[in-house]
Amino acid sequence: MDRGRPDDRTVKTALALAVRAPSIDNIQPWRWRIEDRSVRLDLDPSRAVSSTDSEERDLVLSCGAVLHHLRITFAALGWSAVVRRLPNPANPNHLATVGLVRHRPSPLDIALCAAISRRSTDRRPYTSWPVPPGYLGLVTERAAAQGAILRLATDHARDRLAIAMRAAAERHAGEPGERFEPAERHADTAIEPDFAELLVIGTTADDRLSRLRAGEALSAVLLTATNIGLATCTLTEPLEIPSLRRSVRGGVLDGYAYPQAVVRIGWAPTSAASRPVTSRRLIEDVLDPFDPIEVRAC
Ligand SMILES: Cc1cc2nc3c(=O)[nH]c(=O)nc-3n(C[C@H](O)[C@H](O)[C@H](O)COP(=O)(O)O)c2cc1C
Repeated sequence: MDRGRPDDRTVKTALALAVRAPSIDNIQPWRWRIEDRSVRLDLDPSRAVSSTDSEERDLVLSCGAVLHHLRITFAALGWSAVVRRLPNPANPNHLATVGLVRHRPSPLDIALCAAISRRSTDRRPYTSWPVPPGYLGLVTERAAAQGAILRLATDHARDRLAIAMRAAAERHAGEPGERFEPAERHADTAIEPDFAELLVIGTTADDRLSRLRAGEALSAVLLTATNIGLATCTLTEPLEIPSLRRSVRGGVLDGYAYPQAVVRIGWAPTSAASRPVTSRRLIEDVLDPFDPIEVRAC
């Protein structure tokens, strides 16, 4: 440790774990910079591959997920993150500056950090074992703590959501290879019949800050569920099509919140083979050199 800040090795360890975060089509649309007393997160729009994400919703959500992962990894390493979101109005791609203060890791910090390397997107159908309401209550609380709304789709709302998911999958399946990893994405994405619980993450506004927070909430939901032993799968496919997004907004969120992501959650079959680990870019490839002159100029 140096002058009340973590040393570079600690920061790079935190980053290496944080970038295990999920991202749309695994594009990892982030850049990092280790500054004098903080870590800076920028969105890298050049990583975008989808033409249907014109508002960069999925990119910002992905960066929100990696931001929350970073907060968790630092917490487990003994540093509490003090986050300034969108600190520079002149640069909307500067998503966050993360300051750090010493803290004692809690058992929860360590458990959620350990869940990072166990989490993966599991697109298979889930079993009929019920997810206890207390577990769903816990993930709902964790999403709320990040400033998002989590709604369990039941009855008619679930039917509406399932129809939207099916329609989106069918529409995208007909598109020639525009996605980063379309084969896996479409071949085994479970729609129905499937016993997954369907959760929708929503926000009361639909701006960049709300999407960043929704990504943080998504990460909190996924890591909490993984820590419990539940399988998860994030889906934004149905929300990329405006008419389907409106249908999910009205049918699941009663029109008062904006849907940002759908999460399937449930128990994977115990006989199922373990999931392949998806690759990540090297830290050196996503880390910009620190330029103290530019920081002083801000
Ligand atoms: C914002 C966001 C949107 C996503 N949307 C979808 C989706 O619509 N369909 C899907 O199968 N996976 C989706 N994913 C999952 C990613 O494809 C997955 O996170 C990525 O391939 C990395 O794999 P991993 O989660 O197993 O580490 C999404 C992930 C994020 C963060």
